[in-house]
Amino acid sequence: MMNRLDKDFLWGGAMAANQCEGAHLEDGKGLSCMDILPSVQYGRKEAMYNPQLALTKKYGYYPSHEGIDFYHNYKEDIKLLAEMGIKAFRTSISWPRIFPNGDDKEPNELGLKFYDRLFEECRKYNIEPVVTLSHFDTPLNLSKKYGGWYNRKLVDFYLKYCKVVFKRYAEVVKYWISFNEINMITHIPFFGGGIILKDDDDVMQVSYQAAHHQLVASALATKLLRDISKNGKMGCMLAAGSYYPYSCNPKDVWAAVEKNQDMYFFIDVQARGGYPSYTKRLLKKKGVCIKIAAEDEVIFKKHKVDYIALSYYSSRLISVNKKVLKNIADGNAVTTLRNPYLEATPWGRQIDPIGLRITMNELYDRYQKPLFIVENGLGVSDKVDENGEIHDDYRISYVKEHIKAMKGAIADGIECLGYLVWGCIDLVSAGTGEMEKRYGFIYVDRDNEGNGTLKRIKKKSFWWYKKVIESNGEEL
Ligand code: BG6
Repeated sequence: MMNRLDKDFLWGGAMAANQCEGAHLEDGKGLSCMDILPSVQYGRKEAMYNPQLALTKKYGYYPSHEGIDFYHNYKEDIKLLAEMGIKAFRTSISWPRIFPNGDDKEPNELGLKFYDRLFEECRKYNIEPVVTLSHFDTPLNLSKKYGGWYNRKLVDFYLKYCKVVFKRYAEVVKYWISFNEINMITHIPFFGGGIILKDDDDVMQVSYQAAHHQLVASALATKLLRDISKNGKMGCMLAAGSYYPYSCNPKDVWAAVEKNQDMYFFIDVQARGGYPSYTKRLLKKKGVCIKIAAEDEVIFKKHKVDYIALSYYSSRLISVNKKVLKNIADGNAVTTLRNPYLEATPWGRQIDPIGLRITMNELYDRYQKPLFIVENGLGVSDKVDENGEIHDDYRISYVKEHIKAMKGAIADGIECLGYLVWGCIDLVSAGTGEMEKRYGFIYVDRDNEGNGTLKRIKKKSFWWYKKVIESNGEEL
């Protein structure tokens, strides 16, 4: 039993290229899928579920085009994060910054140079970069020309990109994540797989086939990393949060089992090396039949991931009772119900720290591989007071309770590599494109319409998290 955290525990923060970098066409970068989405006030929800519309329509404001201008501001930002004492910084490499069209012959040297500088800056402060290879930003050209991840050709384009970045950064990056929240593809196919559905497409058929291609790509990327890098570790990543049954009615309990299997389906392949026993039932129920190439089973078996990364925002809830089913809550794109025992944020996301301990126990029992919490945090608006300060006690309380729950899970015997707070610097929300849904310890002066100076301000939580890290999680 371990009560104290390992001295090498990776405390830190996480961001993603498309939500922070901006500079969306600078230095040769191509358009990513996220670059054609407006913010929620201009119709993001409609556009992300119907990207055909987003391809043709001109919106008033595209938040990813400037993000928080991390592309130009990264030095100041990394310095601030270093001052907070973080040990690890998760970001993603923007695939269309390296291969602007996805199918280019040669990589874009200027894009690579940016990440040279960024990782060098991290290393200067002894910050461990944790790098996601694909975080919702498939090059738009691959969506338009090939149909996104529904097309198996994407596997080769992705591996070409992986080879370039593995070779280039093998010395500076140890922790890699093949796909951000791989299970997201069956909830928002455009985010997860760059898929632009046509009117007569069968959503489930297309997204599970695309998921299969990503699973193959992830396993082959794991192989590639091992061929290229001596120390590299590959992680899969789940948008986690266990489903609870709404009641003790066995039908509710079974519904929760099925919902959980629908999530673990992906990680079972990546961590256990093959499709799980319930695959046939799960796919039949969805009316899906996936094409699997002869070599795929061997690929899965041979190239399993080293660790399980997870994002956790809340537990989820399911019932078979039609009346109860009407009472939905925000499950970060995943269906969930209002849990009467939990408080919710103004954005409708429920707060359940114990759920983190439950989720971690489930994942560790199932896979017995180290876990890595690479996203957790509270997205709410903050107020700058007349002294220019932000007193975000609510965020401190959220993070504190989740750290306690994580420590509980570690005391349960779970191996956990680290804890990264999502959007450690305020950034553009993936779900709504807003800036006002803030997660950061560092405030960014920018509003939902793109106004503001982009000035960074340390919030009260900045100083609190600094102490947490200094005391290795003892002082909460
Ligand atoms: C995760 C994503 O699903 O949740 C992030 O990996 C995202 O990209 C985060 O930002 C929080 O969701 P949102 O919609 O509040 O930005």
